[in-house]
Amino acid sequence: MDDILAVERRPDRVIARLNRPEKRNAIDREMIDALHVLCAELEADPRILILTGSGDDFAAGADIAQLRARRADDARRGINAMAFIRIRELPMPVIAALDGYALGGGAELAYAADIRIATPRLKIGNPEPSLGIIAAAGATWRLREIVGEGLANEMLLTGRILSADEALSAGLISAVREPADLMPAAHAIVDRIAAADPLAIRHTKTALRAPRDAHPAIDGELQAELFESAEKMRRMTDFLERKGRP
Ligand code: COA
Repeated sequence: MDDILAVERRPDRVIARLNRPEKRNAIDREMIDALHVLCAELEADPRILILTGSGDDFAAGADIAQLRARRADDARRGINAMAFIRIRELPMPVIAALDGYALGGGAELAYAADIRIATPRLKIGNPEPSLGIIAAAGATWRLREIVGEGLANEMLLTGRILSADEALSAGLISAVREPADLMPAAHAIVDRIAAADPLAIRHTKTALRAPRDAHPAIDGELQAELFESAEKMRRMTDFLERKGRP
């Protein structure tokens, strides 16, 4: 049987494909467990992550058959929320490459990524209240941070699903690419990130995630470490030598 999360490992990046296409990659407990295993690997050995789907979709939600059976204690455990927070907190950037449906928990997994790109077939949103639940795996706070309160309120209260163009205008995705170009575009983003100093990228991600009142102290601390690094000296010396200023 194919893995529910198909993982390809390269030296500088890992590509993880939600792999349940017959259920439009609906996120079930087994997939969440596999995401935790992947997070443990990437926490120990940080690499850039591309998250994508199999078939024509990213994920049409959390698995509704499993959700129906969950009770109050399961809700309090935040089964999907905890996994998506762990993905958000990974040391290196996460890129979500989205096609087709990214609904409910699928959308929330995408919101947890640092960068999102999509095909013109994207349909992204949170219809949870129509199923009698809230979007509890990040949408109520993360979507607002990404697109602002007005649109987040509308999406979460009305279940409005955005097209790729609407998501692009709202800043929810940063590029639209034809299906055949989606993964090359994701890899091109990774190539750009991978060309920079990995520690500077990790520190940038840490600073981006820090709460407002942690700035500017946290930036100074992170920069202090980088100002002493051999890699900074090497990269800046290379630049100056290329310009003929040793
Ligand atoms: N959970 C469990 N199974 C799901 C699923 C989900 N979130 N989304 C799709 N599936 C399953 C369908 O039940 C179907 O399985 P089956 O072939 O065994 O019956 C299969 O995936 C294909 O989906 P289907 O509904 O036949 O495709 P469609 O093109 O008619 O409709 C959607 C696509 C996305 C509109 C529809 O599947 C849907 O509304 N899904 C739920 C979306 C949702 O509310 N997500 C939020 C959950 S938190």
